[in-house]
Amino acid sequence: MHIGVIGTGYVGLVTGACLAEFGLDVTCVDIDREKIELLKKGIIPIFEPGLEDLVKKNLKEGRLHFSEDVASAIKNNLVVFITVGTPPKSDGSCDMRYVESVAEMIRENADGYKVIVNKSTVPVGTGRWMKEFVNRNVDVVSNPEFLREGAAITDFMYPERVIIGAESEQAIAIMKDIYIPLYLKETPFVITSIETAELIKYACNAYLALKITFINEIANLCEYVGANVDDVARAMGLDSRIGSKFLHPGPGYGGSCFPKDIKALISKSKEVGYDFLLLKTTVEVNQRQREIAVKKIIDALSGEVKGRVIGILGLSFKPNTDDIRESPALYIAGRLIEEGAKVKAFDPAAMANAKSVLPQIRYEKNAYGVAEKADAIVLAVEWSQFRRLDLVRISRIMKERIFVDLKNVYDKKQLQSLGFKYVCWGR
Ligand code: UDX
Ligand code: UDX
Repeated sequence: MHIGVIGTGYVGLVTGACLAEFGLDVTCVDIDREKIELLKKGIIPIFEPGLEDLVKKNLKEGRLHFSEDVASAIKNNLVVFITVGTPPKSDGSCDMRYVESVAEMIRENADGYKVIVNKSTVPVGTGRWMKEFVNRNVDVVSNPEFLREGAAITDFMYPERVIIGAESEQAIAIMKDIYIPLYLKETPFVITSIETAELIKYACNAYLALKITFINEIANLCEYVGANVDDVARAMGLDSRIGSKFLHPGPGYGGSCFPKDIKALISKSKEVGYDFLLLKTTVEVNQRQREIAVKKIIDALSGEVKGRVIGILGLSFKPNTDDIRESPALYIAGRLIEEGAKVKAFDPAAMANAKSVLPQIRYEKNAYGVAEKADAIVLAVEWSQFRRLDLVRISRIMKERIFVDLKNVYDKKQLQSLGFKYVCWGR
């Protein structure tokens, strides 16, 4: 079967490479000519563990192709995946211009029956709109992605479930055929309506963000009542109705999905006349958590950061990615600079992206460069490189020994025994 994938961001690229790995013939297209030229040489413009090898292997074996000819990709393929960006507008609603431009291309070029698959996160109702707008012999399917950056290939190859929102038996049969390698592994398939599949994606992301926000508030409360949030989270997670994942306190969630998907769901709800209070509060609490993190750092330096040197470990929105979209670490760095601090930082993958946003930061080669002569060090992203620092060496090269652990990675007593003033969440 021949598949077209329109949009080669991290979702489009992972989808194309993995479907080719399933043995399908896949053509990935993008309007960004430069990106396509790089991809044709097997050069991947994003940091996603394992993706470069998978792309190169499938390019070599002739199942994966790259092109900027979107029209032909639509004409020549029975199934066309849409994986273009759906970024937020300033009012929080979903910017559909890229999806709409692809829909126009489909209307112009879809000769013969096709299955159009929305994998990008799109507002509820998009599939039905697209079928009417395209007005050709096509079935539209919602097949949302649940890929985490840094684990995207594993999440595609070993999904906990596949969601198919479709109206025709033919489209469902074609989608099952595409995912047959997962079917054989008995991966659960949820076959439902288009609107339901579209809402499932938002519901999952919103719930995960809510869960993180909940443990962040519990962590804050622990500081008032002298409880230990790590033990609370562990005990909560042992209840199978709650589960242990996504109960790690920190400076709030970031990334290219949670912030925009929640705002899009709030906006869509409002548009149809529903006031989604819980999500509006989640957005508010998440923003407050970043400010609480900034205040923690300022308080650790006895309320004055003007002229002080603060080192930050990690700038990406989470480990194993170079993505800085809505990164709490970068937000905090910017706020400390606003407060007059001299900020230096190191990140294993996101420095180039961070430099384009915050050139005022002094970028170091490693964690020890960050610690050198710093008044305080802030662990902002739990990269594995930061989990086993040589703390004795750090304590010797810092000017003052203030350690603000925004991801609760280290042991409080161990740091205090080394003479650090140690600050963390809720313990
Ligand atoms: C995107 C959406 O942002 C996300 O909401 C959804 O869940 C998955 O798809 P991502 O892959 O990160 O996530 O998108 P992005 O990084 O913005 O890349 C989209 C790609 O599509 C870009 O390379 C862009 O050049 C390309 N594109 C955009 C097209 O090929 N055609 C267009 O008309 C518009
Ligand atoms: C998320 C969803 O997990 C994925 O299913 C969806 O397809 C896309 O959005 P991603 O945004 O890549 O994936 O990152 P994720 O690992 O979910 O983390 C999101 C944010 O929450 C990060 O800023 C992370 O630091 C934060 N987080 C995560 C916490 O603060 N605590 C946790 O326990 C888990």
